[in-house]
Amino acid sequence: MSPRIGLNDFDMYYSSSGSGHPVALLHGFPLDHTMWKAQIDELSKDHRVIAPDLRGHGRSQATPGPYTMDLLASDVNTLLDRLGLGPVVLGGLSMGGYAAFAFARQYPNRVKALILADTKAEADTPEAQARREEQAQSVLKDGPRGLVDQMIVKMFTGKTSTSNPALVERLRNMMESTSPTGIAGALRGMARRPDSTPLLRSMRVPTLIIVGREDSLTTVSDAEKMANSIPGSQLVVIPEAAHLTTMEKPSEVNSAIRRFLQRVE
Ligand code: MLT
Repeated sequence: MSPRIGLNDFDMYYSSSGSGHPVALLHGFPLDHTMWKAQIDELSKDHRVIAPDLRGHGRSQATPGPYTMDLLASDVNTLLDRLGLGPVVLGGLSMGGYAAFAFARQYPNRVKALILADTKAEADTPEAQARREEQAQSVLKDGPRGLVDQMIVKMFTGKTSTSNPALVERLRNMMESTSPTGIAGALRGMARRPDSTPLLRSMRVPTLIIVGREDSLTTVSDAEKMANSIPGSQLVVIPEAAHLTTMEKPSEVNSAIRRFLQRVE
């Protein structure tokens, strides 16, 4: 379930389930592949679903950063090479979406279709870059707890956070198990990511955009901008969901992905 491969400079864990057309799912920050558990369970009934723990996350080793989105994309490309896979449906949530943009730029022939969940095309502002560096230094000094406390309240709606403490606990454990080196590497990599807006108009693969109506980190307006720029893309707004739609509204997200896959396969 969680095999490991040695890449150039680190060991990467990934989950591989099912058989059929391949789907690769890239998780957000500072998470791991289990944020896709509900989608892996559903889609692996008739697809090969690959979900890596990106460098420095989950069980994959942390190397000194920054983890640029190009580096994360190249890790995923090497993994797909080693697994002998051709073009895949590539999904990414938030940071996973930033990495998916980098992947689409570097390896366009390997992307059969894209699923962009709770993500955005723009680069960080200078203020956001400075904030990420402060966060990286604070996590390296004091551990992840402070950052996790700030982030966790934005991941689910208030309603879900109150009614489903077990889900919040699962998420907190996932975030707090990410090593300080991994968190700092990802923060510094995200701060360096380029603006992907110019890529959008040139994209020619079927694209599904998913966003939680109450996502305050990557908003409905960010999703609409992507949808307006990517030719023929489809936008699905998930009601009563915030940033982590895959965990908060798994059935709705699964249905949207299923409908999309039927259209593209
Ligand atoms: C994520 O969920 O991956 C992060 O919130 C993305 C970000 O910090 O920009």
